[in-house]
Amino acid sequence: MEPEAPARAVTPVRRPEDSDRSLRPTTFDGFVGQTRVVNNLKTWLKAAGAAERPLDHTLFTGPPGLGKTTLATLVSRVLGSTLVMTSGPVIERPADLAGMLTKLRRGDVLFIDEIHRLRTHIEEYLYSAMEDYRIDVSIDEGPYAQSVSLTLQRFTLIGATTRSGLLSKPFRDRFGIQERLVAYGDEDLAEIVRRSAKVLEVEIDEDAANLIAGRSRGTPRVANRFLARLRDVALAAGGPAQGIDKEIAIRGLEMLGVDAQGLDDMDRRILEVLAESPGTPVGLKTLAVATSEEDGTIEDVYEPYLIVRGYVRKTARGRILGPKGYELLGITPPLAPAESGQGKLFS
Ligand SMILES: Nc1ncnc2c1ncn2[C@@H]1O[C@H](COP(=O)(O)OP(=O)(O)OP(=O)(O)O)[C@@H](O)[C@H]1O
Ligand SMILES: [Mg+2]
Repeated sequence: MEPEAPARAVTPVRRPEDSDRSLRPTTFDGFVGQTRVVNNLKTWLKAAGAAERPLDHTLFTGPPGLGKTTLATLVSRVLGSTLVMTSGPVIERPADLAGMLTKLRRGDVLFIDEIHRLRTHIEEYLYSAMEDYRIDVSIDEGPYAQSVSLTLQRFTLIGATTRSGLLSKPFRDRFGIQERLVAYGDEDLAEIVRRSAKVLEVEIDEDAANLIAGRSRGTPRVANRFLARLRDVALAAGGPAQGIDKEIAIRGLEMLGVDAQGLDDMDRRILEVLAESPGTPVGLKTLAVATSEEDGTIEDVYEPYLIVRGYVRKTARGRILGPKGYELLGITPPLAPAESGQGKLFS
């Protein structure tokens, strides 16, 4: 099951009010950070151009809101090709896919978002399209059904997924190019904020941009969402001339329920549940029940940031507080099992 976008300001999952489209960079130059991925892509694009062949099939993986869809649109722009966008769960029958594939011209890009959610028979149907640029299309139904083999133009499939682990190996192996996006550093995020502020036509000072960056969980989508809300706070405070300064940023982020660590109430609930039994791992299901949240959502949406920043640790038997978690809650970490065993012996 795919996590629903929770109603919280810091979720990296797309929410309807996010202005992803208008804030999306339209050139590689406008795409901040992810230097390794961008340089790789430029190389593959150049090579494909030099050899006058379509780009190899490409897979983008990484958490929500880091720029997978943006990169797909940039690649297609550089190729000067048509981009056809669809998503794993909406393709129900091979015929749906065949309809899209047969319309593609040489070098066009078919972008499949949430590609891990493709139905298995659709995934298998894609294999021959990706490899041999051929598909079988059935004509007629029932006892007189026949199928004809169609040749496709050499297209490029770009897949995006937040859960690369859910793709089968044979499927993954059919992507010649595989790039993983990682969380952004605060400097990159501050630059994204300044760039987006220009697009939204709002002034923002250095302190405010850094403040937003530090609380955005390494995620451009979250940074852009904060910026849009802070613009409104600024507008309400002083009319169009009022830009976003540190004071507005602090006040606005507080209104959104985001604290200085970029954590919100739900994060704190998770930490508090783990703090109830310090040192004892809590299973994902138990954590889900205790916080009234879906286990998949905890795993994909809340937990990654808490783990990266050291608030939570994942062990084979469940989740426990990490060093930063103890520090934040002002709890002394329990002694390691060996030490506590000894402690009992002598007490
Ligand atoms: N490197 C970047 N530079 C500037 N803006 C970025 C960058 N990456 C992402 N963004 C911004 O973040 C928003 C979200 O990016 P995008 O939609 O590409 O994420 P995604 O990885 O496809 O997310 P999802 O997994 O939810 O589909 C975009 O609107 C874009 O404005
Ligand atoms: Mg996307």
